[in-house]
Amino acid sequence: MAEPIRELGIIGGGRVAAALASCLGDALDVTVHARHPERARLSPHGPPVAFDADLARVASRELIIIAVSDDAIPEVAGALAAELKSEPRPAGSILCVLHTSGATTGGRSLAPLLEIPGVEVGSMHPLIAVPPAAGPGYFTRAPFVIETSGPVAAERARALVEQLDGEPIELPDSTEATKARYHALATMVATGTVTLVDRAADALAADADQRAAFRDAFGRLAMTAAVNASRGPGPEVLTGPVARGDASTLALHDRALGDLPVEALHAAVRRAAEGMVDRGRQEGGGA
Ligand SMILES: NC(=O)c1ccc[n+]([C@@H]2O[C@H](COP(=O)([O-])OP(=O)(O)OC[C@H]3O[C@@H](n4cnc5c(N)ncnc54)[C@H](OP(=O)(O)O)[C@@H]3O)[C@@H](O)[C@H]2O)c1
Repeated sequence: MAEPIRELGIIGGGRVAAALASCLGDALDVTVHARHPERARLSPHGPPVAFDADLARVASRELIIIAVSDDAIPEVAGALAAELKSEPRPAGSILCVLHTSGATTGGRSLAPLLEIPGVEVGSMHPLIAVPPAAGPGYFTRAPFVIETSGPVAAERARALVEQLDGEPIELPDSTEATKARYHALATMVATGTVTLVDRAADALAADADQRAAFRDAFGRLAMTAAVNASRGPGPEVLTGPVARGDASTLALHDRALGDLPVEALHAAVRRAAEGMVDRGRQEGGGA
């Protein structure tokens, strides 16, 4: 078990920064530095959060999490590097800085910090949709993809994930290309689910109330399908007419959706599902 983190600095005031502060603020000494702290939407069920306008106080922590928009990470890393250069840390101490983006490695987005002796960088990406004001316990069982430039950052990242009751998962490797591919695929899953639910409700409903009711109903269907998906290979857990090979139902669906804006989406999902089922049959030695 990794040595627990005692003091944490968080840079950012958005969804992830607020959620981390709410989840960790009771157990750790947490300081948050945000450009607009008044905009932070904190959980009413979480501990009070200490915002500090002085970057230097956040920079003095053993572990710093940068949770700002992906595009702003290099700029924030540059400002933190300038701060650390002006206020050198005690000799022999290691400072670890991690960002929470899934798209790039710490080595790329936090590059200015790697020039400072005694600093290790990395990233710690929660593979979970984080809404505004997420409260204590939100990251329980959440997968976290961790990659770091050094062993101390790796250990501290694992410790923090443990303290969040999350579950670390490993990428096949920590190259820039693999991380970008991982994030594109994760986005395909999350964006795809939200888009499918929303477009399906819109295509069926006659008014705003029905749209809301079917977003809820299709959303709950998506939850059961997602649980199924996590339980085994797609061809084994898939339900519905593609899995059963119900040709007459599939033809009925084509006719039913032919003149609706979701037709192309429906056809693309069908093609992908049929390809997956065919591959499953070939690999399983079936017909
Ligand atoms: N939300 C999720 O579901 C989720 C899940 C996993 C990972 N992530 C990652 O976590 C990170 C934060 O995402 P989020 O969803 O928390 O974002 P968010 O809610 O949109 O908040 C973004 C934050 O970044 C700050 N910011 C933007 N530009 C800045 C700059 N130049 N200097 C300082 N601060 C700046 C914003 O400050 P202002 O309010 O002052 O503009 C805001 O506090 C991103 O890397 C994202 O990819 C998000």
